[in-house]
Amino acid sequence: MSKRYTITAALPYTNGPIHIGHLAGVYVPADIYARYQRLQGQDVAFICGSDEHGVPITIKAKKEGVTPQDIVDKYHAIIKQSFIDFGISFDNYSRTSAKIHHDTASEFFKTLYDKGEFIEEVTEQLYDEEANQFLADRFVVGTCPKCGNEESYGDQCENCGTSHNATDLINPKSAITGKTPILKETKHWFLPLDKHEAFLKEWILEGHKKDWKSNVYGQCKSWIDDGLRPRAVTRDLDWGIPVPVEGGEGKVLYVWFDAPIGYISSTKEWAEREGKDWEPYWKDENTKLLHFIGKDNIVFHCIIFPAMLKAEGSYILPDNVPANEFLNLEGNKLSTSKNWAVWLHEYLQDFPDKQDVLRYALTANAPETKDNDFTWKDFQARNNNELVAIFGNFINRVVVLTNKYYDGVVPKPNEFSTVDEETLAILKAFPAVIASSIERYRFREASQELMNLARLGNKYLADEEPWKVIKEDEERTQTIMYVALQIASALATLSEPFLPFTSKKLKSILCHAELVEASTWNSISEGQELLPANHKIGKAELLFSKIEDAEIQAQLDKLEASKKANASASSAQVTEPQKEMITYEDFSKLDIRVGTILEAEKMPKTKKLLVLKVDTGIDTRTIVSGIAESFSPEEVIGKKVTVLVNLAPRALRGVESQGMILMTEDESGNLVFVNPDNHNKVANGLRIS
Ligand code: MF3
Ligand code: ZN
Repeated sequence: MSKRYTITAALPYTNGPIHIGHLAGVYVPADIYARYQRLQGQDVAFICGSDEHGVPITIKAKKEGVTPQDIVDKYHAIIKQSFIDFGISFDNYSRTSAKIHHDTASEFFKTLYDKGEFIEEVTEQLYDEEANQFLADRFVVGTCPKCGNEESYGDQCENCGTSHNATDLINPKSAITGKTPILKETKHWFLPLDKHEAFLKEWILEGHKKDWKSNVYGQCKSWIDDGLRPRAVTRDLDWGIPVPVEGGEGKVLYVWFDAPIGYISSTKEWAEREGKDWEPYWKDENTKLLHFIGKDNIVFHCIIFPAMLKAEGSYILPDNVPANEFLNLEGNKLSTSKNWAVWLHEYLQDFPDKQDVLRYALTANAPETKDNDFTWKDFQARNNNELVAIFGNFINRVVVLTNKYYDGVVPKPNEFSTVDEETLAILKAFPAVIASSIERYRFREASQELMNLARLGNKYLADEEPWKVIKEDEERTQTIMYVALQIASALATLSEPFLPFTSKKLKSILCHAELVEASTWNSISEGQELLPANHKIGKAELLFSKIEDAEIQAQLDKLEASKKANASASSAQVTEPQKEMITYEDFSKLDIRVGTILEAEKMPKTKKLLVLKVDTGIDTRTIVSGIAESFSPEEVIGKKVTVLVNLAPRALRGVESQGMILMTEDESGNLVFVNPDNHNKVANGLRIS
């Protein structure tokens, strides 16, 4: 009996094209998994679509002076094409602006509403008086209450990953006008996550301790341990799905409420097209539901969406959420705004027909258990030393020799030697080895096992040397070539999840379509004959080609150019406009003094914060400062500093900070202390804040 799998891959935001980070973290592993399960004969629905709501899309539209619909139409098309180009084999790729999705999400909301699963509450939210608009999510920027990152968004801090409410931000500023927002009352609907705490504890903390990846389990645990609170699932915005209940006029569903429901609507769209019933894919207990995502999506897929599904009552819950960490590029964080990325559509212009090379390089170096770095040198090495030198070389030798000696006809084997027997026995074990890695979501390991199979073939030929043996022993040569051809056929089949384009090409070279029964995952592990004697194969074609140093250098130059463009853009922006005029009275309210840092230590579990003891002349007090990425504690002890001493105290990570040390940036963007020693390093016009 085949088993049903609903496999989802995070719906990408349509506010830009997608890059290698998306492919490595989510789509390639999800695709390997889906292709693998299809090869096992399972009933697979591999589901995705564009995430077309949310504030970043509105902001981008505003900036470009077009409508949000224009933005999503443009990027939906580009992203969809990239997935096709890279062989991501979705059964359906939908979009959240589709009617079927609006209907499905509205209905879902109404069901929860009717069941009394929401809390309806009037609360004070941030409001920009100049833009006449409430500031939800990315419309507001401020200091993260947890880690002190000054550029946290209203909904999530990208520095520490915490997700919070906009009103939790310290010193919030409107992303539209830059103004400090006021608080204004508005009604919203909240999903009481606290109400689901007991269930989440049992289901995740007890039920999935062993089978979920430790990075995923750990994040869930820390969320649950911190205590779950009600989350607003509606927003005062005009781009999104209208809130379908009384009092919801002018409000829309929160993007993270509607987007995961997109998996359901995309499944419905697919089922309608294929004449299937969508419900078993979401409601049958025997279906395995899997969400492939990046680590910034963990809380939404492991806590919030399951709480929604549970509250609705008729849905199954995910069996696993194999989230990946992040991929960096040449040592730096991938960044759309800084153009520090390898865009898929640009990659294809430079390396047409090398989709599998990128898939392979990203899989072999996937950020499965920790953040990882993509380098062009590694990419070149994976291609030249593995795909070309091992896989490609083996296949090429087998096909060329079979054509040369036997006119492309698979020879009949004679007696197998011990080496032949051993080689065939090892071959037989490969499907199970690769399968076991894939089933445990260890795609790097799986890809290396596949390469090991090619290594086996390469070594077999190198040891048996048919090109020498042919001169004295034709019978032995036939056997060698027969064995090598079996390995080639297995490679064509087992490479399919990883290298779909190569697999297809190789199957066509080996004329798999002409066989009564082409090799399958099963027939390989049962040790069946994969290419029988007398089967005729085609001519040799190169599967991979070498990538030259110059091509790699061109990519590095391209990145260097974006680095330069960024540096000059940021130095051009250094002089910020003067702030609003203040009176002498305002100024005299500030009490700024010279002090000395007496002690310094890192705030545990943060990257940016140092906890300082400062002698202000008045007293010795604690000040928390976000400078840990620029200075070590040792470096700052004993330093003379300028301190704003009468700033109202505030708590950062539970430590009360009683003042602020004045800092600015030098011409290369490094933080420097504002004190007489380095005044000469600070450019005119820089704001001290
Ligand atoms: N658009 C989100 C992101 O790119 C992912 C949405 S996943 C879904 O981070 F579950 F909401 F669909
Ligand atoms: Zn933070």
